[in-house]
Amino acid sequence: MMPSGKTAEGPRRKNLDGLFKPRSVAMVGASADPHKIGHQILRNIVEGGFAGEVYPVNACAEAVLGLKTFPSVAAIPHPVDFAVISIPATAVAACMEECGQKGVQAVAVITSGFAEAGNIEEEHKLKAIADRYGMALVGPNILGVVYSPSRLNATFGPRDMASGGTAFVSQSGALAIGLMGWAVMEKMGMSALVSIGNKADVDERDLIEYFNHDEHVKVTLVYMEGLKNGRDFMQTRISKPVVMLKVGRTQRGARAAASHTGSLAGSDQVFDAAFRQLGMLRADTFREAFNWARALALPPMPGRKVLIITNGGGIGVRATDECEKAGLHLLDDPEWLEETFRPVMPSYGSTKNPIDLTGGAAADKYSQAFKSAVISDKFDALLVLYCETVITDPLAIAQGVSREYEAAGRRKPVVAAMVGGERSRQAIHFLNQQGVPAFTSVADAASSLNALAQWHEISSREKDDPECSQAPREAVRIVEQARKEGRSALLEHEARQVLELCGVPVPPAAFARDLDEAKLKAAALYPLAMKIASPQIIHKSDAGGVAVNIRDESELAEKYSAMMKTVSERVPDAQIEGVNLVQMAEGIECAAGLSSDPQFGPVVMFGLGGVLVEALKDVAFRIVPFGRVEAGRLIGDIKARNILDGFRGARADRPSLVQILCAIQKLAGLVKEVDINPIRSSEKGSFAVDARIIL
Ligand code: COA
Repeated sequence: MMPSGKTAEGPRRKNLDGLFKPRSVAMVGASADPHKIGHQILRNIVEGGFAGEVYPVNACAEAVLGLKTFPSVAAIPHPVDFAVISIPATAVAACMEECGQKGVQAVAVITSGFAEAGNIEEEHKLKAIADRYGMALVGPNILGVVYSPSRLNATFGPRDMASGGTAFVSQSGALAIGLMGWAVMEKMGMSALVSIGNKADVDERDLIEYFNHDEHVKVTLVYMEGLKNGRDFMQTRISKPVVMLKVGRTQRGARAAASHTGSLAGSDQVFDAAFRQLGMLRADTFREAFNWARALALPPMPGRKVLIITNGGGIGVRATDECEKAGLHLLDDPEWLEETFRPVMPSYGSTKNPIDLTGGAAADKYSQAFKSAVISDKFDALLVLYCETVITDPLAIAQGVSREYEAAGRRKPVVAAMVGGERSRQAIHFLNQQGVPAFTSVADAASSLNALAQWHEISSREKDDPECSQAPREAVRIVEQARKEGRSALLEHEARQVLELCGVPVPPAAFARDLDEAKLKAAALYPLAMKIASPQIIHKSDAGGVAVNIRDESELAEKYSAMMKTVSERVPDAQIEGVNLVQMAEGIECAAGLSSDPQFGPVVMFGLGGVLVEALKDVAFRIVPFGRVEAGRLIGDIKARNILDGFRGARADRPSLVQILCAIQKLAGLVKEVDINPIRSSEKGSFAVDARIIL
């Protein structure tokens, strides 16, 4: 196997078959002492039923758990595909070197005490060894790896995890252990669990892309605390649902930036943007993430129409509310509903969706109703509800539903919510084991169906085609000239010129050095705004350097004198170059910006403009590069999007806004920040009225 280094965007993936489908595993640090981690991992490998060869490595003991031990990896007289390393940090590099020489394909380093403890150099050493031999390195500082299809449990977590469609990738080992225990208790199976710890080598992208091609994995769930290389992460290809649980939401706004718009680029919002751009579903809590993951393993949900079968009116109403809240709609077809469900319910039951079989409905009635429903194409998902009563048996109902589901070939998504005590709990566990996601709450059920519908929408959405063109030569010249002059920002007229050269529409404008020149150039521009031009003044309004709606020459002269007086009082040292005269543009005020995120590099922001951009913080981001389709989605991400579409008034022009968002990407890498605020957008188009470009 060829060694491969990790580069920002180039090919670098290592084959992970050695990790998940090894023919043999060496357990280094396999102690006879049951209190030691190495002992417990070996026990899990052996008792978990791994069918390949297992070689305990221990310098002292002769046998552990009845298996002959070897003093080192080198001393194993057979090939080894995968080595789990649980020995003190100081010995790990030497052990990995041996593994490399032996041709081991993958190592999982359980040991802590590397980068997370400040020991960065030692961790780099491990990565270098892994690269030199083309070995995949998971960790260090991890819980280990579970892969159900190989019956491989190389962790010191619970042993009896059932198999299922979810692959769980966790940056935190301790949380992964806890959640393994919880999953076992809730009878939720997983196909894989990989604790990636410090991510010295194998990371989320490697695993998501590996699982794209793994028939046993239906959904990948990632618990993430941070990323090392956002731009590399943005190259992740996904062909199956990915649920992201990224913590650290409240660290927004950590980044200090020179301009106001840039200061909104809180990195959590940028993470949000990254997940959206990649088509990943972001969950807020573990519960939500695991609920979604289970639902995402169901057959596709091509629309949002839901049918509910229930034994109680109250829970039916609750579920209706939750469905509506989640953007799901109840099937409304009174004739078909009456015809289909009347025969399976008493006269006082209801055939209005939710279908209320009433409190006495036992397993036979549920089964009949389910059977009639599940074969229909009139709706996209089925939600089965149950409230526990003493005269009905929840487990029998669950068994009946599951039987009919299998008989119908699992045709469409089915989820259940069962409310009650211990007997309902058992029924929920049964359904979970059968691959029917079952919940104790209707909100969880509705939210899970929403995730499934979202995934269908994502996977069938229009493909984006990022535009990677560069700024034109003349724009580069203007920027470089300003740099040569030692300036940290472009003057307004320069900024406008640069934007125009990149393809951003700007209103007609002129630059004038004095009042006489202003009078001359203003003639063709009324009504206009006049703005001070000074390298020292960035916030022009604060300095009294903005006058709007000037209609004629006498008003121009009057406002000009007033402006010069105020500016010289407020910023006495400012060197005044002249004024910018800009034709007033009508329309909704929007704002767009380009700034740089520490993890993802250049990002583009869009939001409502003027003072609203700061007051409401209603902005959204995308990571550069992106194309017109993604720019359209960015505009659609702001909460006030219906204002753009003419809510009680004029509408904005989306195509020209898209054009602006695409055009400003040309300045990525050339300047530090672009802040266009406001953009005026109306049916006549969108124009960058004011802009700042920081070098
Ligand atoms: N080759 C072979 N065997 C070796 C060895 C080597 N280079 N170095 C040590 N061993 C043996 C030891 O002799 C010992 O066996 P013994 O009990 O029979 O004597 C066994 O391997 C383990 O070594 P030991 O020194 O006892 O370490 P330990 O088990 O106390 O701790 C770690 C090792 C890896 C568990 C510990 O260093 C550590 O990092 N703990 C934190 C792990 C963690 O929390 N990870 C993150 C999870 S979220």
